Amino acid sequence: LPVDPTTLTIFGATGDLARRKLLPALYNLAHDGALPERFNLIGIARSQSSHEDYQREAREAIEQFSRRRPDPAVLDALLDRVRYIPGSFGDDDAYDSLSAQLDEFDADNGGPLNRAFYLSTAPAFFPVIVEHLGEHGLAHRADCQVRVIIEKPFGTTGAEASELNRRVLAVFDEKQVFRIDHYLGKETVQNVLAFRFANGMFEPLWNRNYIDHVEITAAEEVGIGSRAGYYDSAGALRDLVQNHMLQLLCLLCMEPPVTFTADEVRDEKVKVLRAIRAPAPDETVRAQYTAGTVGGEDVRGYLEEEGVPPESQTETFASLRLEVDTWRWNGVPFYLRTGKRLARKVTEIAVILKPVPHLAFAKEGSLGVQPNQLILHVQPNEGVSLSLGAKIPGTRMVIRPVQMEFLYGTAFMSQSPEAYERLITDAMRGDATLFTRNDEVEAQWRIIDPVLGAWQRDDPPLAHYEAGSQGPPEADRLLEGDDRWRAI
Ligand code: BG6
Repeated sequence: LPVDPTTLTIFGATGDLARRKLLPALYNLAHDGALPERFNLIGIARSQSSHEDYQREAREAIEQFSRRRPDPAVLDALLDRVRYIPGSFGDDDAYDSLSAQLDEFDADNGGPLNRAFYLSTAPAFFPVIVEHLGEHGLAHRADCQVRVIIEKPFGTTGAEASELNRRVLAVFDEKQVFRIDHYLGKETVQNVLAFRFANGMFEPLWNRNYIDHVEITAAEEVGIGSRAGYYDSAGALRDLVQNHMLQLLCLLCMEPPVTFTADEVRDEKVKVLRAIRAPAPDETVRAQYTAGTVGGEDVRGYLEEEGVPPESQTETFASLRLEVDTWRWNGVPFYLRTGKRLARKVTEIAVILKPVPHLAFAKEGSLGVQPNQLILHVQPNEGVSLSLGAKIPGTRMVIRPVQMEFLYGTAFMSQSPEAYERLITDAMRGDATLFTRNDEVEAQWRIIDPVLGAWQRDDPPLAHYEAGSQGPPEADRLLEGDDRWRAI
């Protein structure tokens, strides 16, 4: 699908996200010929830089972080269309300059270009920027499409998220708003939909009759780096579960939409979220890492990280047991876990099927029989694997699990685009399928709010785990009776 000619404005243009992800994503798109033919970029941030300073900064960021090795001609052509506006986000002058710059790009083009505003700032500025865009007549135009892309976190509680929705929707219409959850931009996350709805063989099994339970893991090796300021007030539950993990759960559980349009897909996801009741405190685990060894390197505990208050109770690991109360899923437990400083980086969905009803083999032969497991590997080793019981070659009937695998790397032999490449393009096209709708984000908070409330009352108490480990032993308790967590 073509992307309409657009001027993209990034608020927070000198920030970490812009440098590491957004500018490199724009370069990769330019490299692949996937940007619109007429594309301009405006950066806004506080530092008093010139257009040339910012173009230099953007070049460095792209050279350091882009997936594609920069081609000087493509990079020069992209940077030539970059302008910078210094200003604070509550400052009217900055919006006057922005408006003038947008008009100048339109005049160059000989007609109006679509406008997209990307809010890549601290969340406190989201309403301020949106309201200023409104006041300066920048939110609606008769002659072009205007869109606003809003980064995470979208609120830190349900009440805040609704208030933010209210303020955003007082200025923009919902169809102009693109709330980012970058997991939805990942190829393998979209493949959950392809896997489920492009293959007839799994659908008959995809329910409480055949699926015993599901484990969703988002483990990271990294600690919090220099993000203590944000992370210590967020914690793992807000940082990864409220958004990314609940999105994975939605894609896994939703009913097939009639068509893949933004609202039909999102209607189905909202139904899943509405069917989840908030877990009780004893269906949750919260924990913090202590010093340990990750990938052969000794690392500090969370409380020793720079900028973390010594008495912090913020969780760096969160685990929940959820149920989806629908005809399809009633009684199937969904176990979620995420953490920083775990043994390795792995994001995966493991669907564990029910055991066979009767084993006819002799005892020795059946010892290796295990329930089938379908694993959707989100990252790394992107792909899908299915474990099957197979006979070990020999004169006896002895069974052992083997793997049937599809790997992106070998099946397609091509590099997947980064999540932000897909999401920026979709937003410029006006396709909101991979973005979170207002009611969806509020429904996510409805599940998380009571957990946050219980955790603030120290219920359950904060557990601990050694950096580089599999997580706290308390997380095993959640699965008791069903299984053991897959090794990280
Ligand atoms: C972000 C979180 O949303 O997702 C980070 O704020 C986390 O804390 C990151 O590290 C994980 O993303 P990915 O794409 O590396 O799995």
